[in-house]
Amino acid sequence: MDHEQGWPKVTATGIKQLSIKTTTLGMVSGMGNGTKTAVLRGVRLVKTYGDGDSRRVVLHECTLELYPGQVVLLMGPSGSGKSTLLAILSGLLEPDEGQVLVDDEGQLRDLWQMAPAERDRYRRRHTGFVFQGYNLLPALTARQQLEIVLHWCGDYRDSRRRVDELLERLGLQQLQGKKPAQLSGGEKQRIAIARALVKNPAFVFADEPTSALDWENGQRVMELLRLAAHERQAAVLVVSHDQRLLPYVDVHYHLEDGYLEERGLPA
Ligand SMILES: Nc1ncnc2c1ncn2[C@@H]1O[C@H](COP(=O)(O)OP(=O)(O)O)[C@@H](O)[C@H]1O
Ligand SMILES: [Mg+2]
Repeated sequence: MDHEQGWPKVTATGIKQLSIKTTTLGMVSGMGNGTKTAVLRGVRLVKTYGDGDSRRVVLHECTLELYPGQVVLLMGPSGSGKSTLLAILSGLLEPDEGQVLVDDEGQLRDLWQMAPAERDRYRRRHTGFVFQGYNLLPALTARQQLEIVLHWCGDYRDSRRRVDELLERLGLQQLQGKKPAQLSGGEKQRIAIARALVKNPAFVFADEPTSALDWENGQRVMELLRLAAHERQAAVLVVSHDQRLLPYVDVHYHLEDGYLEERGLPA
């Protein structure tokens, strides 16, 4: 493997260097030699929509890394390609060019070279999603929204205890018996975050998670996403056009006209 494709060592990314080494996805172990290994690397990703005269390049060779224990914010104006990039990195939309390298049980693999069924399995097992519109199931209580994820993953071990612990850690126990219609927008989004975290994913992808909320609820949502990264060692990618989220994140990328660059954070 050439140097360009190897896992990068951590650079100045705005978070303490934690000396963490990933063994398998989502399992972070050991105090090592002051380096930290990325769990996902998007390399020179290109995406074009349309044909002929309506052809439009939405992403121009975009490259970024996600690390365990970090919240990355991807900002950019509406229509700049943020959701497209998130969908490619999370295995939902195929890029025209480039690679999405992930760690699969110690092996580096391109998500988009996997067979579709394998990619689906990988995504089910390792990624959690949070959307602006919550996407909760109307008939289920908050607690059942979490339990059903463990069911779908075929992961029944200690499921009651794990759901209890997570709801307690996120301060959501009092909501557990309520259905979406009985919850406020902020409450729904906090349950959606709990649902994304219940299987202990290596990655959490959040597309405009605060856009439908007032600022107080937006801050609560960002606190939970920080907890997902800093306590549970998930690699969290938040997509937003809201500048107010900057103080809550560890790394900031800006996307404009399909060009991606890393930017600084407020001191
Ligand atoms: N399936 C599609 N077909 C054609 N154009 C699309 C499609 N999805 C998105 N686009 C266009 O690509 C651009 C980027 O979209 P998107 O990734 O949703 O941006 P953002 O999330 O930053 O608002 C927009 O101009 C949008 O209209
Ligand atoms: Mg979008």
